[in-house]
Amino acid sequence: MVKKYRVGILKGDGIGPEIVQAAVDVLNALEFEAEYIELHAGYEYFRKSGKAIQDGFFDAVKGLDAILKGPLYTPPHEKEFRSINVLLRKELDLYANVRPFRSYKGFSLKEFNFVIVRENTEDLYTGFEFLYRGVALALKVISYDGVRRVSEFAFSYARSNGFNRVTVVHKANILRISDGLFREVFFDIAKNYPEVQADELIVDTAGYIIVKNPERLGVLVTPNLYGDILADVAAAVVGSLGLCGSAQIGRDIAVFEPVHGVALDIAGKGVANPIGELESAKLMLIHLSNKYSDRKLYEKALVLERAIHKIVEELRILTPDLGGNSKTSDVVNSITKLIQSNNT
Ligand code: NAI
Repeated sequence: MVKKYRVGILKGDGIGPEIVQAAVDVLNALEFEAEYIELHAGYEYFRKSGKAIQDGFFDAVKGLDAILKGPLYTPPHEKEFRSINVLLRKELDLYANVRPFRSYKGFSLKEFNFVIVRENTEDLYTGFEFLYRGVALALKVISYDGVRRVSEFAFSYARSNGFNRVTVVHKANILRISDGLFREVFFDIAKNYPEVQADELIVDTAGYIIVKNPERLGVLVTPNLYGDILADVAAAVVGSLGLCGSAQIGRDIAVFEPVHGVALDIAGKGVANPIGELESAKLMLIHLSNKYSDRKLYEKALVLERAIHKIVEELRILTPDLGGNSKTSDVVNSITKLIQSNNT
């Protein structure tokens, strides 16, 4: 019997609802057997209900196979509204944030295929900040266990996805103790994976190489903040933030969301590029395929991947962020048609 997956849907803020719906439509076209359970959190939900996250959210998550999520807004001017993204990463222990970056022919300047694995629960995101006599202080937290598990994840990801190199990104030349520990633990873990080459880049050089020679890169493993920043640099090299998706892997559950934010400037206009969310849905299919040894899901992921590349590279159905004038719905309809006519 075909397994029916239980997938949490968190539509999020800004363009979130438009692109999450787009992903569900495409998953339906792929005949992905799922029961969708809607979850509520975020700034829009807060404005309507007075709560940033629904009561019983974490109970509702128990028993789900995955969560497909849109971006959530954290208004920088409202100091009392804390990031729900950070809360989810912490509470669900989503320790590895995997962000693949692949070039599009005729679009990206070079041909490349690299992955940023960002440590997702520590560093400057733990929220230990205070003000003392006019001096603002923020604690950068790097733990042995945090680095160990994200490094182990990066090496085993490299091994099972055909990459022969993992590069640790740090600033240990200045942050001797915190980034020093990240670097040291990474190289310790590397000894358990002799078939994978381990090397290092200082974070500023990593930014330079991502732009200048992305074809040289394989898997990069980074502390939280550097991964956050470098992912947007990498997205620009691919061609648009709107093209990039991510998988946040936890011990019990994984959450799939685009790399970009809520894009308030285009929300509600029907022009958001849905591909970042579709890429995230693809990563979800691959994750579930591996977790449940469900080969059919992997095939569906490949069909989706081919359809995405075909509409960008050959059919040129492009939203405005890619220089076109197609709508979100044009992209979704074209991908759906390709899938349904077996024409990927
Ligand atoms: P953003 O990623 O929302 O937008 C940056 C630029 O990229 C904008 O010009 C936007 O229109 C464009 N863009 C982003 N996604 C697009 C798409 N799918 N199609 C077409 N164009 C797209 O970055 P910004 O404005 O700095 O962030 C706004 C807010 O988003 C932040 O204040 C933060 O609260 C939230 N955010 C949430 C994230 C999450 O939930 N994982 C991640 C990053 C930001």
